[in-house]
Amino acid sequence: MRKRILAGNWKMYKTAEEAKSFMEEVLSKVPVSENVEVVICPPSLYLSELAQLTKDSSVGIGAQTMHDVKEGAFTGEISSAMLSNSGVNYVILGHSERRQYFNESDESVNRKVHAAFEYDLTPIVCVGESLEERENGKTGDKVAGQVKKAFEGISQDLAPKAVIAYEPIWAIGTGKTATAEDANEVCGAIRTTIGDLYDEKIAGEIRIQYGGSVKPDNIEELLSMQHIDGALVGGASLEPKSFLKLVEACA
Ligand code: G3P
Repeated sequence: MRKRILAGNWKMYKTAEEAKSFMEEVLSKVPVSENVEVVICPPSLYLSELAQLTKDSSVGIGAQTMHDVKEGAFTGEISSAMLSNSGVNYVILGHSERRQYFNESDESVNRKVHAAFEYDLTPIVCVGESLEERENGKTGDKVAGQVKKAFEGISQDLAPKAVIAYEPIWAIGTGKTATAEDANEVCGAIRTTIGDLYDEKIAGEIRIQYGGSVKPDNIEELLSMQHIDGALVGGASLEPKSFLKLVEACA
């Protein structure tokens, strides 16, 4: 049984005060369970403080992106070394919004996967198709291509430590969740791709999340699927009560 992983991607929401009070409420109520890894990915401004607040808890902190070099003249960027040094343990890479608005590419995602592992960060690698690609039957090719490129040069030892998040672009923030069967089919295809790149053992070990309008009322069906090991959640992760329901469903 793979340990589930539930991550909340706050995107660009919450004031510093809201972030702190969210975390204090969640930390006081979050069930501690061997079955699930719980991660919060706040805006980068709050990473240090929330990492400090959660350091002795069961909740991990993740960044929503990062640069792929240790340091340099890259105004506004943050490196994996800085994240690791600030107590951050996870990093979302290749989110469709980074690919759409900030020129993230399969090649830059691969460089960042390497950089994340260099500083012991767990990469959550996002892949997913557009509505047009789905309607044209291109989902499998698109997602397999993204996985292959993201894992280029990643060793057999490190690969199973990564997390892959299947996030169909048409389901993000739209309220249109993929059906559990469709999500499971694509997550199964991702697992097959990992098996082709490495071997069956690693394919069986790597964790694959689903993301895209996950809510407390649909997460249980998604988690009942063979190839879905958790969720990467946007909107429903912003409220403590809703997020705690998602954790309970995973526990
Ligand atoms: O990274 C998770 C996010 O893209 C999903 O957003 O609001 O559809 O849960 P949402």
